[in-house]
Amino acid sequence: MAKAPSSRKSTKAKSTRTKDAARTKGAANIVAERKSRPLPQLETPTFLSPQATEEIAAALTTLLADSLALYLKTKNFHWHVSGPHFRDYHRMFDEQAAEVFAMTDPLAERARKVGGTTLRSIGHIGRLQRLADNDASYVEPTDMLAELLDDNRQLAAFMRQTHDLCDDHDDVATESLLEEFIDQAEERIWFLFEASRGARISGR
Ligand SMILES: [Fe+2]
Repeated sequence: MAKAPSSRKSTKAKSTRTKDAARTKGAANIVAERKSRPLPQLETPTFLSPQATEEIAAALTTLLADSLALYLKTKNFHWHVSGPHFRDYHRMFDEQAAEVFAMTDPLAERARKVGGTTLRSIGHIGRLQRLADNDASYVEPTDMLAELLDDNRQLAAFMRQTHDLCDDHDDVATESLLEEFIDQAEERIWFLFEASRGARISGR
């Protein structure tokens, strides 16, 4: 039976390595994604420069891959959670998964509206996602809370980075979309933190 690390130290060290790897992979993925320019048949009207279109569409598509990875992990935990807090966690994970899934269509369509293209397959998601999958056959409920808390914090940080990029290109509509999604991520972080209070999770 596979189990998540039990020691706080090893979990923290693993988490730091995971975040560093995610940042490195994310930067490489976004650069790679920028190389795919839309075919003439897929061009859409935009006020943005070609460079801004490439950068923003690539960042949005990478956020979309992360959102779909987080959606499936949250559903996975909804389906596989067990123990005395089953009802609370099962419901909270379902509500959070629905909220994350609701981000995906606006992110994809925003990539198209700014003149770019977006995801085409599960394989494409796998190549771009920065948030790690969890294929373990068993995860302790407290470890589910900790992992989702960490993933949502990373997603919020990635969205802030994309917000800064949009600010550089005066793309206020994408900024506005991301502001709402950042608020939602912060609410998920709050709920996950409160649900795990008394476990071993820090507020920062
Ligand atoms: Fe369900």
